[in-house]
Order: sequence, then structure tokens, then C-alpha cells
Amino acid sequence: MKAVVYKGVKQVAIEDIEMARIEEKTNALLRITSAAICGSDLHMYDGRTPFEVGRSIGHEIMGVIESVGDAVTQIKAGDRVVLPFNIGCGDCFNCSRTYSNACLVTNPEAVGAGYGYSGLGPYQGGQAEYIRVPYADFNCLKVPGTPGDAFEDNFILLADIFPTAYHATELAQVKLGSTVAIYGAGPVGMLAALSSQIKGASEIYVIDSVPERLEKVKGIGATPINFNDGSPVEQIRDIRKHNQKIQGSMRPGDEKMPGVLCGIDAVGFQSHDEGNPDIERPNQVIDDLVNPTGAIGVIGAFSPKDQGGVDEPAKHGVYELPYGLMWEKGLSVGTGQAPVKRYNVLLRDLILAGKASPDFIVTHDLPLEAAPDAYSRFDKRADGYTKVILKPGMKA
Ligand SMILES: NC(=O)c1ccc[n+]([C@@H]2O[C@H](COP(=O)([O-])OP(=O)(O)OC[C@H]3O[C@@H](n4cnc5c(N)ncnc54)[C@H](O)[C@@H]3O)[C@@H](O)[C@H]2O)c1
Ligand SMILES: [Zn+2]
Ligand SMILES: [Zn+2]
Repeated sequence: MKAVVYKGVKQVAIEDIEMARIEEKTNALLRITSAAICGSDLHMYDGRTPFEVGRSIGHEIMGVIESVGDAVTQIKAGDRVVLPFNIGCGDCFNCSRTYSNACLVTNPEAVGAGYGYSGLGPYQGGQAEYIRVPYADFNCLKVPGTPGDAFEDNFILLADIFPTAYHATELAQVKLGSTVAIYGAGPVGMLAALSSQIKGASEIYVIDSVPERLEKVKGIGATPINFNDGSPVEQIRDIRKHNQKIQGSMRPGDEKMPGVLCGIDAVGFQSHDEGNPDIERPNQVIDDLVNPTGAIGVIGAFSPKDQGGVDEPAKHGVYELPYGLMWEKGLSVGTGQAPVKRYNVLLRDLILAGKASPDFIVTHDLPLEAAPDAYSRFDKRADGYTKVILKPGMKA
């Protein structure tokens, strides 16, 4: 079967690899109809996160069940399903508490497993024609309709980006009336803005420097902030300072809350320096924007191993943080891999009810064979490449 295979720094290729098959009676075999490229895949593509040359890649997967093992009872051949990028067993201490991102069973070497990803166990990647689904009853999210229908590009976002972005708003404690600032207008940042909108946030700012990405967030009622135009902290404070409704409702002391209550980092460790985008500065995102008593959700990825870290500590995932200031402000900070299964059923139902259409972030539907070119352009955030969905069935 054909799959996207990692060939070394900034190189992927389409190769024939061993056909996926049912190996245990709890498995299913899935024929893949959509597989998305994720910002997380770029950490491996860029050679920052170690990944074996020759291994297949990809963790955002949906398709149609081809066959199931003898112990699978909830899912059958012909079902259309989306897979959470986390592979859970469903029964361990963590899975049973809705932390399937930290399954204790599925990764022999660590906590938490996933498809085709560095450090997340021995599983094949899903940018391929077929995939083996471990613990199929637990991991398959059933969706209605037929492959390639108008919902396909909404459903594929249930594999990672929409639940991950929603989780970011949970970490940042976004609720009715919240003021929210999101660093990064990539797929995760944009859907964190959509999730904040769904939760009823009053002000939503999204920070980036890629014009077409910033343009898109206007469509969901968020305010774009281009960090090339100056410090985003100052820009947001300035907008709030010149808003007469905000100023007109302030009592003495309220000026001590010039920023927002909820901050989301949807960039991660490959964050560009706002003053000089040619260099990286991973710790600037947790800065002075969040008000006392607020919360920060760090959903952008960080790693204890970064082969290209800016300095020796960064190579080990060690960064300088204003810890004293965070403590003085009483900020909460949430981090980590999103537990997709906690939210994917609910977000699917929002999509089905017509109350959320996350597919506005999708910019390219392409055949599997287009992956090498699509990786290269997405990596440069060039030519509008924001969210690419590979379609193994599509003719090249
Ligand atoms: N926690 C999880 O479970 C999880 C799941 C999926 C993705 N992620 C992570 O989320 C992050 C975003 O991924 P993505 O898919 O949205 O794609 P992406 O990498 O394209 O998005 C990142 C965006 O951040 C912008 N950016 C860079 N430096 C910035 C800065 N200083 N300030 C503001 N914006 C800046 C980039 O221009 C880009 O648009 C990645 O680190 C990815 O690994 C985490
Ligand atoms: Zn992903
Ligand atoms: Zn488990």
C-alpha cells in the first residue's frame, strides 16, 4: 500500500510499505479517505523532533472500516469513522478518567500513544491508503454520510485540530464573556478562536504575521493582530484603551487589568521572535498579556528533545519563564497533548446540528501523491497552505 514516508530533514516521499492488517482481535482495518497534514508533523519534517527515516507519518485520519477483529462489537465493516490522534486502550487508569492522551497501555515506552509520531509508540502513520486501528471499539468515532460528501472536511478535523483547539480553551478557562488572546493563526489557533466564539467569549484577539491567515479569523468575529506591526501586547492593550464601551464601564482600579483573562499559545516551541521573525524565541508567548487571576493554555507543542533548539537549555526543552510574575498574578497554566476523545462526540454533534463548521480552515484537498510538495509549501506557510487534506482515493 502507498504511504507518506519520512526520508530525512525536509524530505518526505510516497512509497510502497507493508500492507496494514489486523494483528489483534480488538483491531480494525481502515481504508483511509482523508488524512490531514498537521503543524505537529512539521516538527519532525524540520528535523527538530527525532523520527526514524523510512517510517510512515500522519495522525489525522478518517475513512471506512474494511474489516474488524473477532473482539470488536461496536464497529463493523462499512462504517465511516474518524480516529482520535491519541490511541487509547479505553480501560486503564488514565483512559477511564478521560485522559486517553496519557494511556498507560498503548505505548510500551512512555505514557500516551499516537499514529506515525515521534515518541508515541510503534504505530504506522495515517497519510496512507490503510491503517490498523488498535482498540477499535474505543477509538473509532462513528460519523454519518458517505465518503467525499460535504461533511468530509469538517469530520477530518475531529481527529485532532477541533478537539485540540477546544481543549486549549478549556486549559485557558474560556467561558461566557471571557476576553481571549490567541498566539498563532494556524489551524489550531483559528479553531481555538471558533471554540471561544462558541463558548460566548466577549473579545477574541488572534496574533500572527501571515496575512491570509489573519484575514480568515475576521470571518469568525475575532480581531487579527499582526506582530509585524509592533508588540501584540501593546496593540491589544491599545485597542482596549481606545474602546469607549470598555473604558466607560471601568471603576477605579480596573486599569490594573489592561490585558485579557485567557491566553492561548497555539504556536509552540518553533515560535518566531516578534521583533525579528528570522530567529526563534519560544518563551515570548507567555508574556505580560494575561491579567491577574487569568489562565494560560499552552496547546502549541513543546518537547524535552529539540535537536534544533536555539541554545543548550532549549535543546532539552528548558526555557526561561517569568515564574515570579506568574505566581504574583495567580495565573493558572495548562499544558500538554489534547485528550481528543473527551470532546470529539460533542463536537461532531455540533457539526451535525449546523452549529459549527470548522472546515473554513481547509485550504487544500490533494491526492496522496501531492504530499512532498504540500509539506514543503505548508512548512514555509507559503501560497496560502494552511490546512492540507490528503485524499488517498483521489486521482493525481
Ligand atoms: N497539544 C496538542 O495536542 C496539539 C495538537 C495539534 C497541534 N499541536 C501544536 O499546535 C501548534 C500549531 O499547529 P498548527 O497545526 O495550528 O499549525 P502551524 O504550525 O502552521 O501554526 C502556527 C502559527 O503560529 C505562527 N507564529 C509563529 N511564531 C509566532 C509568534 N511569535 N506569535 C504568533 N504567531 C506565531 C505561524 O506563523 C503559524 O501561522 C504546533 O506546535 C503543533 O504541534 C498541539
Ligand atoms: Zn495533528
Ligand atoms: Zn488506556
